[in-house]
Amino acid sequence: MAKDGKLKYPIIAVNNAETKWDFDNIYGTGQGTVDGILRSTSVLLAGKNFVVAGYGHCGKGVAMRARGMGSHVIVTEVDPIQALKARMEGFEVMQMDDAAKVGDVFVTATGCKEVIVEKHFPLLKEGAVLCNTGHFNVEVDAKALDGLAKSKEEIRANCVRYTLPNGKHVYLLAEGRLVNLSAAEGHPSEVMDLSFSNQVLALLDIVKKHKQMKPDVYEIPAEQDQKIATLKLQSMGIGIDELTPEQKKYLNSYAEGT
Ligand SMILES: NC(=O)c1ccc[n+]([C@@H]2O[C@H](COP(=O)([O-])OP(=O)(O)OC[C@H]3O[C@@H](n4cnc5c(N)ncnc54)[C@H](O)[C@@H]3O)[C@@H](O)[C@H]2O)c1
Repeated sequence: MAKDGKLKYPIIAVNNAETKWDFDNIYGTGQGTVDGILRSTSVLLAGKNFVVAGYGHCGKGVAMRARGMGSHVIVTEVDPIQALKARMEGFEVMQMDDAAKVGDVFVTATGCKEVIVEKHFPLLKEGAVLCNTGHFNVEVDAKALDGLAKSKEEIRANCVRYTLPNGKHVYLLAEGRLVNLSAAEGHPSEVMDLSFSNQVLALLDIVKKHKQMKPDVYEIPAEQDQKIATLKLQSMGIGIDELTPEQKKYLNSYAEGT
């Protein structure tokens, strides 16, 4: 909207703060997504092929936690750099058309639409579990699944079993809406405090500076990120080292050593 000149007021991109998306999106979504899957299915994750679509912040958190539960994690991506990062992290990377045939549990975390679609449903293994932890209920095409299935039955809270024309069963969690919010409790406050601190400080900034601000997108200043991380560490009783004046000078000159 900013690019098209359609923004009517200034926006502060809180999501882009390091103390937001490197924590809330990774650790909050990672833990909550696994929690939502377990509450709505009670499946054993150990030994399962766990497919994560999108290896961004949320996808990284989910992949990391799924590996910790003993799953074999498969990543699908559209960005070559993120795909390479996933591979170097030790995850298998493949296209969704192939992952659809081998996955036991699928989590979409792309913010995109039509990630798991009609052509994938007949390929799925018996008992495959589908869910989304990205933006909206458009990552898994639930409408197409509804249209294709012979029947569907809610077998427990947030878990609907679909019977496909080929006789296989597929489970869709939370209607394809964010599984961590719908089937679990969202992020713990111990990580949301970082996001909310960013929002509060951004609001205070708007109060002070709104007269000078244009209808544009503003990033969180680096100092705010640093301040929030410092306060969080203090609240956790963790101290870190400080650069000495000599070290600061050295980092800007690299004049010593070989
Ligand atoms: N569940 C939650 O509580 C929660 C929390 C934070 C963010 N979100 C949402 O999760 C989504 C992802 O957030 P993020 O911070 O990880 O974003 P991100 O931009 O860091 O990551 C998204 C990744 O998905 C990949 N991608 C895009 N389209 C794809 C496709 N069709 N197939 C495979 N990969 C694809 C991108 O290349 C990117 O690497 C956003 O919509 C965000 O709003 C959810």
